[in-house]
Amino acid sequence: MTFNPLRERGIPLDDQLRTWRELAVMPIDPDESDPYTRCRIITMNGLETEAIFFSHNMARHCPDVEMKQQLARVRYIESQQQKAVNWLLPGLASVLETTIAYEQVAVDLTSWVARMEPDPYLRQAYEFGVLEDFDHLYRYANLYEMIEHRRAEKIVDGLTEVMPGRPTYLQHRHPVDNVRQNYDRTVASPISKLHALTIMSTEQQTMNFYMNVGPLYMEPIARQLYQEIGMIEEEHVTHYESLVDPGETWWEMLLNHEYNECYLYHSFMETESDPRIKAIWELHLNMELEHLGLAAEAFKRFDGRDPEQVLAPELPVPVTFEPNKAYLRELLATQIDYTTIGTGYVQEAHERFEAMQRAVLDDEKPASEVVIAENAMKSGHEYRLETEGPHPVQSLRTNRPT
Ligand SMILES: [Fe+2]
Ligand SMILES: [Fe+2]
Ligand SMILES: [Fe+2]
Ligand SMILES: [Fe+2]
Repeated sequence: MTFNPLRERGIPLDDQLRTWRELAVMPIDPDESDPYTRCRIITMNGLETEAIFFSHNMARHCPDVEMKQQLARVRYIESQQQKAVNWLLPGLASVLETTIAYEQVAVDLTSWVARMEPDPYLRQAYEFGVLEDFDHLYRYANLYEMIEHRRAEKIVDGLTEVMPGRPTYLQHRHPVDNVRQNYDRTVASPISKLHALTIMSTEQQTMNFYMNVGPLYMEPIARQLYQEIGMIEEEHVTHYESLVDPGETWWEMLLNHEYNECYLYHSFMETESDPRIKAIWELHLNMELEHLGLAAEAFKRFDGRDPEQVLAPELPVPVTFEPNKAYLRELLATQIDYTTIGTGYVQEAHERFEAMQRAVLDDEKPASEVVIAENAMKSGHEYRLETEGPHPVQSLRTNRPT
């Protein structure tokens, strides 16, 4: 069934306000719920956070008081949506457990996007990035076993494997090499724009999360690991945001943002296994349809163009959380040694890369390596969850069965 959000009516903006009682959502039970429900919550929190920050930025560049007031009205609703969504996360979970779930999102969401992306250059950008977040999952899982004495399979539930990706210390690249070529908004397919916005938003939220929670740990190794991976997320935001065409006007960007919110809520409404959470996705979709309508009006008025010219004629296939094990193993086997140079990729270390490595590592083992060695010492083994056999890269195999 086709669904064109431009043709649907949403909830009138004034009726979207919620009371505190309505915002006091009941969190999911971490032991009972589908790990992918938590992934959808984390994803939508990333999108809502982006909606809020984007709208604030736009307001700071908007000379028209009336339009600033409209942005403020919609943004208040986005803010309430963000509260309703993010407060579904269980207070029972530790920060590190939530961190592991964030990396699971990065792994399975980016894999899905890479698999569905029609443009080969953009697809390469996702394939490149996903092997790095895949490695973060492994580093944090070892930290988790070491300091909380628990195992990450409780969180990822066997849906996502945990083993080395592109080693984190090799991800410290010169900032110049993190800037990609942007798509061309006049020829890029609508799904490519939505993909870029989705991954940019979730990576941005991950970066913000680590920069805020990292110092809350007592253990030096945890503080250091959050710093190190936090710097990679800075690189990832640079990498993904540079895919978006900066030639889009503010009104066009707003339109794409609201459309993407419709797309993701619709996707999750279609794929959600928990009926209570599904009802929230549906409610928020109905709110977003109205936001989209308002953005479309503004786009017509200020850009003098028809929104149907820039948006997809109907929603693409739903974004789906599902295991990507075989796909990731294939990427590990073929792309683990990639790095970037300028806006492209190479398989050998180059001069600027090596200079950056010397500058930040200074011949010392970084936290991402120390955490594996220390956990192996304390727990008697390093932590992995290899459900589909040994690591596809020979040199990254362990000697013991895991
Ligand atoms: Fe929203
Ligand atoms: Fe990551
Ligand atoms: Fe990342
Ligand atoms: Fe919105």
